[in-house]
Amino acid sequence: MSTVTLKSAREQRVTAPSLAAMKSRGEPIAMLTAYDFAFARIFDTAGIDVLLVGDSLGNVVQGRDTTLPVTLDEILYHTRLVARGASRALVVADLPFGTFQISPEESVRNAVRCVKEGGAHAVKLEGGRAVAATIERIVSAEIPVMGHVGLTPQAIHRMGGHRVQGRTVEAAERVIADARAVQAAGAFAVVLEGMPADLAREITADLAIPTIGIGAGVDCDGQVLVMHDMLGLSDWTPSFVKQYAALGMSAAKAARRYAEEVRERKFPDEKHSYR
Ligand code: KIV
Repeated sequence: MSTVTLKSAREQRVTAPSLAAMKSRGEPIAMLTAYDFAFARIFDTAGIDVLLVGDSLGNVVQGRDTTLPVTLDEILYHTRLVARGASRALVVADLPFGTFQISPEESVRNAVRCVKEGGAHAVKLEGGRAVAATIERIVSAEIPVMGHVGLTPQAIHRMGGHRVQGRTVEAAERVIADARAVQAAGAFAVVLEGMPADLAREITADLAIPTIGIGAGVDCDGQVLVMHDMLGLSDWTPSFVKQYAALGMSAAKAARRYAEEVRERKFPDEKHSYR
């Protein structure tokens, strides 16, 4: 690759500051989760701005009921695969449960591993006021942090399930206070998950940093979906998910046809055999 190509590739990379510029231009941010090289490359080429290696991999890749058992080593492994497939998108590694709750020091160490070993450009962590000091420490180690407030799946046991947050005046005030705390701690963006669209609109207008919504209405600065949900690879999806493809059905149809052709000795035919 020539120096000129290298330079322009670097200039095109989506960065934490370029997402801020998108907010100020009123340009919506498109973010998807990704967990491997193949899909990272497809999404990157399709122009997705941010690829999140979410701890949702516990559900959609590992088949678990919650994200709680996901380990840092698992996130690191998938982040490496995604980083290899992303030449333009910002790659964000999700800090899994237990990796940023013990102490700010340990949180910085774990965030550093995401950048050094995973190739992430930023980390994301769930929580508001309770994690503000931790966000500050990670940011002071020069690692951009994306916050995540509202419905935070790592707090499933406290919330009593995946419940929409901020529906009463008091609950909405708590979500607003969390979003403000995350911004004040130095986060470059914040995910708003599972809250009424009006509340997400209010937070988006209130904050200077971009908000990325999931189940939070159309007025956020950007949107994120779990790739398996939007591609039709999940058995069940929440009502806020729009399916843009039916890959699960196509894959099942292809596998059935392949099995039939193997059993009928139709595959491989002449065209697919060496001479
Ligand atoms: O883990 C994840 O995929 C997430 C997104 C749903 C925001 O946190």
